[in-house]
Amino acid sequence: MTEPRGELSLRNLAMPADTNPNGDIFGGWLLSQMDIAGGLAAKGRSHSRIATVAIESMSFHQAVRVGEIVCCYTDILKVGRTSMRIRIEVWTMGMPYNQTRAKVTEGIFTYVAIDENGKAQPVDREEA
Ligand SMILES: CC(C)(COP(=O)(O)OP(=O)(O)OC[C@H]1O[C@@H](n2cnc3c(N)ncnc32)[C@H](O)[C@@H]1OP(=O)(O)O)[C@@H](O)C(=O)NCCC(=O)NCCS
Repeated sequence: MTEPRGELSLRNLAMPADTNPNGDIFGGWLLSQMDIAGGLAAKGRSHSRIATVAIESMSFHQAVRVGEIVCCYTDILKVGRTSMRIRIEVWTMGMPYNQTRAKVTEGIFTYVAIDENGKAQPVDREEA
């Protein structure tokens, strides 16, 4: 796959503070970017507060370096009654912007639409 799949949901700059002891970007930081991106997509779809309920099949393909632009693409694979299963791909872009592009990480996250009390509620509701 040479093109990102899905919508661009989040873009951020990899900073020195986000590195691991090797000097590359820490996997946990990438994971949190993916979770935020998927959460934005899930909020947009459900018009609701959401909670992450599962993360599956995470793959880290290549290291991310300081100064790279990290782009998270989201593709809603399935909408259940209260859940949304979303593929998230992370692509990096070097500078100058868009010159080199690589898929560095991908995973599938599941989010649940929740009400004010933190209980699961339907994605498609009357008021949504
Ligand atoms: C999300 C939460 C409210 C769901 O409550 P619950 O009582 O488990 O609700 P249900 O069992 O009815 O499951 C809700 C939906 O999630 C799905 N689901 C639950 N556990 C899942 C899992 N491990 N993997 C995939 N889907 C899951 C169910 O299939 C259901 O989907 P559907 O309604 O589309 O069919 C509850 O599990 C929770 O609060 N978890 C903690 C969330 C959290 O703190 N996340 C980290 C920070 S955001």
